[in-house]
Amino acid sequence: MAYSFSVTLTTAPKQKPDPDKLVFGKYFTDHMFVMDYSDDKGWHDGRIVPYGPLAIDPAAAALHYGQEIFEGLKAYKAPDGRILLFRPDMNAKRTISTCDRLCIPPIDEELFIEAIKAVVRVDAEWIPDRPGTSLYIRPFIFADEPFLGVHPAHHFKFVIILSPVGAYYGAGNSGLVPQRIFVEEEYVRAAPGGTGAAKVAGNYAGSLKAQEKAMKAGCAQVLWLDAVERRYVEEIGTSNAFFVIGDEIITAPLLGTILPGVTRDSVIKLLKKWGMNIQERRLSIDEVVRAAEDGTLREAFATGTAAVISPVGELLYRNRTIVINNNQTGPLSQKLYDTLYGIQTGKVEDDMGWTVAI
Ligand SMILES: Cc1ncc(COP(=O)(O)O)c(C=O)c1O
Repeated sequence: MAYSFSVTLTTAPKQKPDPDKLVFGKYFTDHMFVMDYSDDKGWHDGRIVPYGPLAIDPAAAALHYGQEIFEGLKAYKAPDGRILLFRPDMNAKRTISTCDRLCIPPIDEELFIEAIKAVVRVDAEWIPDRPGTSLYIRPFIFADEPFLGVHPAHHFKFVIILSPVGAYYGAGNSGLVPQRIFVEEEYVRAAPGGTGAAKVAGNYAGSLKAQEKAMKAGCAQVLWLDAVERRYVEEIGTSNAFFVIGDEIITAPLLGTILPGVTRDSVIKLLKKWGMNIQERRLSIDEVVRAAEDGTLREAFATGTAAVISPVGELLYRNRTIVINNNQTGPLSQKLYDTLYGIQTGKVEDDMGWTVAI
């Protein structure tokens, strides 16, 4: 099905930020995509309008009961001028499963991708091209039906906003600065049967307390342990986690408590292609500590859209610092970053068929 959206251009274009001073998530482009859902019309009236505040009824269900979900992906400007999206079908599929978890009517995969393409096209001049920069795309859906009472809403808004961004951790051109990570044993992110595998706004609100604690301890992020035994490593902040122990590369399996990251899936596919020993299996924090002690813990890194690959330089666990690879970026983290970021930006040949030109 071909989708078409009305376009109302801004009469007051904003000044674009200095491309050398971009940070993550602070600046927004001139336009946004908005679409409504009602039970009688389904998803309808997709439109591109000037970026600005949305009028929301104070009784809107999302504001009270958190029926809100979001996604995150990036557009890059390739050296030949093409605008590239990275595996947007994966974000579309994850949106569908997240919607299902929160009783939100799903957005058709093609509609999701066409809406992104349409709004990125309108604001294409906002895509930065300095190394490490990109246009971050934030689709989100929330219940804007005014009612008080806990039941699935009947009216929703699907919105896409765009933000030119620099490196997530304020890193330099290579994008790789090893981070110090807090191993969290008190708070949990997601329990079996909960919403951990869905990109639900409430997951992030619930994580703030631990994040605050980690930052007070001089750490950039939290390493989450499983909610039942507080033993198995799950995710790092808003990224998936990988550990290199001996010749094995280990990441947590998708058992419903971690987010199935697009970057995680891409890393697994690259590692398999390179013939490496990648295992999706449970890994206890004790095994990580033992590996650090016997010298077999070679690298650890986080994977996600925001930072791509982010090496772990230190783990803070029970007041003890575990240093990984001398707090340096390891060869595998660097190779994965160079390959993935290279494919995403059109500088490395995309033999995986992952990029989609707009
Ligand atoms: C909790 C969580 N885990 C992992 C990820 C990484 O997912 P992706 O690689 O799709 O960005 C994200 C970011 O979306 C996240 O919020």
